Amino acid sequence: LDNGLALKPTMGWLHWERFMCNVDCDKDPDNCISERLYMQMADVMVKEGWKDAGYEYICIDDCWPSRQRDAKGRLQAHPKRFPGGIKKLADYIHSKGLKLGIYADVGKNTCAGYPGSLGYYETDAQTFADWGVDLLKFDGCFMEWKLLGEGYVNMSKALNKTGANILYSCEWPLYEWPFRQPNYTAIRETCNHWRNYADVFDSWNSVKSILQWTASHQDIIVPAAGPGGWNDPDMLDIGNFGLSHVQEESQMALWAIMAAPLLMSNDLRDICPRSKELLQNSHIIAINQDPLGKQGYRTATEDHFEVWERPLSQNRLAIAVMNKMEIGGRREFFIRETPSWKICSPQCNVTQILPQYKEMGLQTPQSDLVVSVSPSGTALLTVTPIRDFTSFHKLHQN
Ligand code: GLA
Ligand code: GLA
Repeated sequence: LDNGLALKPTMGWLHWERFMCNVDCDKDPDNCISERLYMQMADVMVKEGWKDAGYEYICIDDCWPSRQRDAKGRLQAHPKRFPGGIKKLADYIHSKGLKLGIYADVGKNTCAGYPGSLGYYETDAQTFADWGVDLLKFDGCFMEWKLLGEGYVNMSKALNKTGANILYSCEWPLYEWPFRQPNYTAIRETCNHWRNYADVFDSWNSVKSILQWTASHQDIIVPAAGPGGWNDPDMLDIGNFGLSHVQEESQMALWAIMAAPLLMSNDLRDICPRSKELLQNSHIIAINQDPLGKQGYRTATEDHFEVWERPLSQNRLAIAVMNKMEIGGRREFFIRETPSWKICSPQCNVTQILPQYKEMGLQTPQSDLVVSVSPSGTALLTVTPIRDFTSFHKLHQN
């Protein structure tokens, strides 16, 4: 969507995977969907380096509103859980230099049964603009599939009409795929990012199935991605319960290769140092946010390994080598076997980012360089081609 937003994949935090529809603030005041949760996340985002690392949007998902619209037909936040209202919350988030995201649905109800926006697109867009909301996640439950496109387009127009800068996150293709192949040209014109496939769960199986879906539809979806519009493989589970550390590294590496929005869904108030370090890894974030804005894709898959590659600015390349085995120990992979290794002719400079940061130095087409990858883990590298002797000298002066 050409609204000047999401020129790079969105970075932030979204409550759903970790906090779901927990509305019991009497029993669980620290984890229920309430203004406190977002205010506390905002405090931590600033204090613990998340904002400096680039994470910016704090996003509310389902279950925030009251079951009833007000007398003027406007959505209202649940009065007990959001006593200050959304406008006040947005002011607080803005005072921290962060942005606030909210959630609504194109159909009659949200997926959890709260009021949907069908029949109220202009009202809701105006309400969100009046509150100072910066992002809208627009879900697709309780909508006739043939009306999805019209609904998502109309909400996009309604948001635009408010004159506010609201990033528009859609789930249009996810709900259309069961019936037909979505029109990605129309989706890209309408949305800043879009979910294609099932919700992420806190498990390696879920992350794998998202990667599998993405690779098997890459010819259709990868060309749609670019500054202003991105494929959204859903939230990062890193820092929760279901992924081992090497699996967390795989998710982070592949979400960078996929130019995916980096929306963490975890408890930033209580996160293990290794997960935090991974989520804040500036080398991986730089790949994700690369200004060329081209999404990467799977370039090889064989018995033990999958290779994914992403073209980067200045003719550089990011390579992710995932060990598909879920048995045994580390396995070695010859980097010269990656499909794009020809960029190392006559020479290239290689940096390993995962599992550890390491300058691998100059390589040639015959390089014997190997990466050693744990089962369900991923090695992540960047490759800088060296075209001639002059640029070789330049590289070593800087
Ligand atoms: C759908 C969406 C999820 C989440 C839930 C909320 O399943 O895909 O991301 O927003 O609804 O109910
Ligand atoms: C069709 C049209 C597109 C767009 C979508 C909306 O696919 O070709 O231009 O209008 O429908 O669903």
